[in-house]
Amino acid sequence: MLVLGFESSCDETGVALVRTRTQGVPVLLAHALHSQIGLHQAFGGVVPELASRDHIRRVLPLTQEVLTQSGCSLAQVDVVAFTRGPGLAGALLVGAGVACAMAAALGKPVLGVHHLEGHLLSPFLSEDPPEFPFVALLVSGGHTQLMRVEGVGRYELMGETIDDAAGEAFDKSAKLMGLAYPGGPLLADLAFNGNPTAYALPRPLMHSGNLDFSFAGLKTAVLVQAQRLFLAHGGKAQEARELASGMSGAFSQLPLAVRGDLAASTQAAIVEVLLKKSLMALHQSGLKRLVVAGGVGANRSLREQLNTACAERGVRVHYPQLQLCTDNGAMIAMAAAMRLQSGNQTASNSYAFDVKPRWPLSRS
Ligand code: KG4
Ligand code: ZN
Repeated sequence: MLVLGFESSCDETGVALVRTRTQGVPVLLAHALHSQIGLHQAFGGVVPELASRDHIRRVLPLTQEVLTQSGCSLAQVDVVAFTRGPGLAGALLVGAGVACAMAAALGKPVLGVHHLEGHLLSPFLSEDPPEFPFVALLVSGGHTQLMRVEGVGRYELMGETIDDAAGEAFDKSAKLMGLAYPGGPLLADLAFNGNPTAYALPRPLMHSGNLDFSFAGLKTAVLVQAQRLFLAHGGKAQEARELASGMSGAFSQLPLAVRGDLAASTQAAIVEVLLKKSLMALHQSGLKRLVVAGGVGANRSLREQLNTACAERGVRVHYPQLQLCTDNGAMIAMAAAMRLQSGNQTASNSYAFDVKPRWPLSRS
């Protein structure tokens, strides 16, 4: 069975074609991606209306690219899948509308997929796919969750953020440091030669005893530290106040070593909490397998620390390929294919569609 998948929940348009198999993990035949990062950068974040319009422009050329790459024709597609939520309503509607129109024209069924399920199952696209059951750490720009995963569609929430997501903590801290959107990877680059113990930043809920996270306070602590450093290096009080807007660029006047130390200290605070809670979740569940998914899963320091800690505990860690950590169509086509292949979902022949901008994974 050939599954064509569309992702359009935020600022990436992704299309992919996956083939199910009678045994084993479905196979990715082709995928194509367009990132809108350049489009939104001038605004310091995603502008929903611009995102929707750009998805409209990109989705059909990307589909053509996928068909050409795979050597398949649209007529061979058996099921059309799309991201039904969570995400930006307008952006989701583009993918849902295109998928349902295409399926109706082809006379083929459709399947709406949960975006986080796509991330969760994305390590199955790697050469070393995990086996069920496992603990999943989902760390994206909008979500931070620990899940117990028994099988396809069998997800139990163990803990989640009570405010900002880990990706948001990276992005908001990066913005204060004058880095472009999305700042996560740029902050990680800046942190590379920095000292992670240079500044004491809070580790929220680290000792809460449960598996929840809280990252909203971290950006305030980073701001206060950034202002202190700015003043200590002869900056004016007014300019120090303007750092809060993230738009002043004044922080980038500080020496590279100082900026690197603050970036490294920020990254260390986020990574330490993610590490500690992941290990707690593994301990509580008694499972010996961890899957890390979502954009922040690309973070090198997080990977290194998880790898070391898990190796010491005899736990195997699985990641998606680096380029499939952030949003893409391959994970959506894969999640749909795995649902269909596992027999716990059938695609629908009704082309009336809706999207779910807010949608808990445990109720998908
Ligand atoms: O999963 P994703 O593409 O989108 C959502 O579903 O939210 O994740 C995007 C997030 C952004 O916050 C981005 O800054 C972060 O992942 N990110 C990183 C890195 N690469 C992407 N954060 C830290 N280090 C990275 N290397
Ligand atoms: Zn995502």
